[in-house]
Amino acid sequence: MTRVGPAAVETPIGYVDLGRVRSNAARIVAYASEHGLRWRPHVKTHKSLAIARIQLEAGARGLTVATAREAEVMATVTDDLLVAYPPVGRGRIERLLALPAAVDAKVALDTPEEALGPLAGAARAAGRTIGVLVEQDVGLGRVGLGGAEEVVALAARVAEAEGVDFRGILFYPGHIRMRETGQSRHVGRVSAALGATLELLAREGLEPEIVSGGSTPTLWRSHEMRGLTEIRSGSCIFNDREALDVGVAGADDLAYTVLATVVSDAVPGRAVVDAGSKALSKEARGGEGFGFVLEHPEVRVASLSEEHGVLELGSSDWAPTVGDRVRIVPNHVCVSVNLQDRLLARDGDEHRYVELEARGRGPWPRPRAEG
Ligand SMILES: Cc1ncc(COP(=O)(O)O)c(C=O)c1O
Repeated sequence: MTRVGPAAVETPIGYVDLGRVRSNAARIVAYASEHGLRWRPHVKTHKSLAIARIQLEAGARGLTVATAREAEVMATVTDDLLVAYPPVGRGRIERLLALPAAVDAKVALDTPEEALGPLAGAARAAGRTIGVLVEQDVGLGRVGLGGAEEVVALAARVAEAEGVDFRGILFYPGHIRMRETGQSRHVGRVSAALGATLELLAREGLEPEIVSGGSTPTLWRSHEMRGLTEIRSGSCIFNDREALDVGVAGADDLAYTVLATVVSDAVPGRAVVDAGSKALSKEARGGEGFGFVLEHPEVRVASLSEEHGVLELGSSDWAPTVGDRVRIVPNHVCVSVNLQDRLLARDGDEHRYVELEARGRGPWPRPRAEG
């Protein structure tokens, strides 16, 4: 373990509060079990074995991944993996089939010829069975089949194919990003769409073992979605400006910030920090900048270059000077974490680095066991 303090570390760097990570995880697990749901967190948010272990120790049931690298890394801490990404292309299929045999590997897909056929063929040849969840589009307009009939038709093909097992359905309500209190109509529509699919599946004798959904903006309303068995909510482990705006998290639930240093105070009313788009990402939020200063939320990151973040001080009575350390809350935590080489983590009075083993796309050069 490397020990390092936030005053000495080089900036910019993602800074995580592990106490808050643990309390966020505990709260999500408590909510899920209260409603008879499982939490299968999406690890795209943190890409880290240390954070995944905290989630599993808190009671998460399995993990969700998007990339082959994430699957390879996370297979070392769970034998219950869901790849929530279409298995299209030889690389994705080969790496999925190369996961340890003890791993119950499941994957979401929405096309019979392009995804299901090649996957089932390769799985048969490898003597392995891969679980399949048929993806339904409930409003985001990304991947997933649009209606109950199409979902059930593909589910029937999965059930007939060798090399794959029909395990259930998957959806992602990523279009619901308004304030939590204004979500009712949208959540109702998702629930109705799921209900139609579940009824048709039942009529065809295709009972889904898993109905996988969930996001962070809809986290605390997951139980209103009919038939749901698990939630994949991911960014709620750290939270970000979006989570605060939506109302699903409060300031005390923010577990991730970007630690930065003021590098210029030359112009009155402005300070420049060393966290630019290569630390915060350029994901905008309603024309209101690229994040805010944790200790002075009235101060926004008004503009970004790659290595510069410009803080407009406006009417704030805060007057930062060159060399000051500041913590920035990014708009979207997942993309910011993905820009870091590693994170600085605070655990009580101690600090250490947390590695991001699942970052990148290539195969994981797994460290050799010592001794
Ligand atoms: C397929 C899928 N599932 C789950 C999630 C988790 O969403 P969130 O970070 O809002 O919790 C995402 C996020 O992009 C996703 O794409």
